[in-house]
Amino acid sequence: MNILAVESSCDDISWALVKDAREILSMGIVSQVDIHTKTGGVVPEVAAREHAVTIIPTLMQVMEGRDWKDVDAIAVTAGPGLLGSLLVGMTGAQTLAILREKPLIPVHHIEGHVYANWLDRSPEEIVFPAVVLTVSGGHNDLYFMEGPGQFTALGQTQDDAAGEAFDKVARLCGLGYPGGPAIERHLTEHPLPRDVENPLRFPRAKTAGQYDWSFSGLKSDVRRTVEQLAHAGTWNEEHRTFVLDAFEEAVVDALVTKTTEAFKKMGAKTLLVTGGVSANSRLRDRFNAFAHATGSRVLVPVKKLYCTDNAAMIGAAAYMVATYQPEKVLHTTEEKLRLSPALRYSLV
Ligand code: KG4
Ligand code: ZN
Repeated sequence: MNILAVESSCDDISWALVKDAREILSMGIVSQVDIHTKTGGVVPEVAAREHAVTIIPTLMQVMEGRDWKDVDAIAVTAGPGLLGSLLVGMTGAQTLAILREKPLIPVHHIEGHVYANWLDRSPEEIVFPAVVLTVSGGHNDLYFMEGPGQFTALGQTQDDAAGEAFDKVARLCGLGYPGGPAIERHLTEHPLPRDVENPLRFPRAKTAGQYDWSFSGLKSDVRRTVEQLAHAGTWNEEHRTFVLDAFEEAVVDALVTKTTEAFKKMGAKTLLVTGGVSANSRLRDRFNAFAHATGSRVLVPVKKLYCTDNAAMIGAAAYMVATYQPEKVLHTTEEKLRLSPALRYSLV
């Protein structure tokens, strides 16, 4: 089954043609990083306007040399996300589904991130039940997944998502947007000297829920440390490395510790990690170390490109929805026109 999907929930617009939740036949992603770098973050109005400009050219690029007869359904991110950005993608997908007489499959953005783990991978590798960590700029959630479409919430962030913390700390430390890749790049270019132990360690936040997180205190700790160093006239490259290294360690440690605890406690067979922050090398290394040490099946998206927002993951999720929850597929024109309530539906 070939699904043409669009994802526009934040600052990237992407179309992809995906076969059976696994094979990407073609994909286009237009990033707005250059635009939002100037403001140090996403301005929703600007993001939506840019989507309106790029949605059609990106679609044409993805469909170039392809026949509409090869498209079995249209999929779209229905939420959550920035409303204006979502509406551009929804309107595009709705119009196309009506015009080309294709079924329309609304997809929850986080469910899309979950199925990014199916791309370029044999489905037999994913054995249920699974514990899933979805960690991005907007979300930081832990689910128990008994099977396709069967999610139970285990925990979430009480304030900032880890990606949001990366973005804010990068800005505090004078690095670019998005913060995660900027911090990772900085630590690669300015690593801690081999024989030097980082003198800084930020405390891990206590939370009411066993599998919840909190990152806003960590962000304040970083701000306070940077202000103290600046006040003392010692805010230099070496100290910036100490601060960023200790920050990344604190985030990764909190994510890995609670996720692996839940994985063991729930007796899950697979641990899935996904979302923008799952592109982080320290996080991947730490989960891989856990997998090796315990013989557990831990999967992160095959390519880092599949971690951050992309339409292939929405196409993959739509295939799973069509297969396991066919009642969610919109078939008639009237149904397709009444898509807007889908903006309010939740994953669990
Ligand atoms: O999944 P995504 O593209 O968008 C949302 O759904 O939010 O995730 C973007 C987030 C940003 O906060 C970005 O800083 C973070 O993921 N991110 C990373 C890395 N790459 C992206 N965080 C840490 N390390 C990375 N390599
Ligand atoms: Zn996302």
